[in-house]
Amino acid sequence: MTTAILSALPQEQAGLAVQLQDLEVVRYAARDFHVGRWHGRPVLFALSRIGKVAAATTAAALIERFGARRIVFTGLAGGLHPDVKVGDTVIGSEFLQHDMDASPLFPRYEVPLYGRARFAADLELTALLLAAARSLGAADMIDPATCRRFGLAAPRIHHGLLISGDRFVTRADEAQQLRSALPDALAVEMEAAAVAQVCHDHGVPFAAVRNISDRADEQAHVDFPAYLEEVAGVQARALIGTLLPLLPP
Ligand code: ADE
Repeated sequence: MTTAILSALPQEQAGLAVQLQDLEVVRYAARDFHVGRWHGRPVLFALSRIGKVAAATTAAALIERFGARRIVFTGLAGGLHPDVKVGDTVIGSEFLQHDMDASPLFPRYEVPLYGRARFAADLELTALLLAAARSLGAADMIDPATCRRFGLAAPRIHHGLLISGDRFVTRADEAQQLRSALPDALAVEMEAAAVAQVCHDHGVPFAAVRNISDRADEQAHVDFPAYLEEVAGVQARALIGTLLPLLPP
């Protein structure tokens, strides 16, 4: 069964695609898809670029053109919940588009004609992602020197709601509004809920993991690029490298 690992940006899966055997790079829909085998299993690595449309386009291509039968998103997010700190890992249980608003025709956040605002992560795939993360421990994914440089104290693993929208949240008052409206949201990013919707349409299992690069506040535009360059790839290599061998063939 072909597994796809999807991220928005190259740094979020740096050093993974080069580990594929029989690697072939296929250009499709203005994107490069890395197709190969990971210890014998068919695996694809793909980059969506940023935002919900780009992510949905890439997810549809993974499924329709490349035959992906499970998709795992790995990348960064801004922490929203007070317990979710920079360096922590959030594994999605549900996904919601926080900028979806067709009210008063449909309730706020509901995706019109789906009868729902939230799309659930695949339970089995998510259980394996949680097992991989817990077997590593959030702290073990990052070396001690990087932890010190980024001021990361005892990173933790969380499981809960991830929210997506076409906005990089960089104001504390906007983050506060999101927290008030969606108190169970753990973190905010720009792609996972779109991929969850595409996977729902195709009946393809989906799971997502996000490492927390910033707190979605005025510091986010500084914290995010630094984390992206120095930490994102280290965490992705550790977690995805641990997850792939756990997946059923
Ligand atoms: N991804 C990482 N940080 C983010 C933020 N603050 N807003 C949206 N997406 C993000």
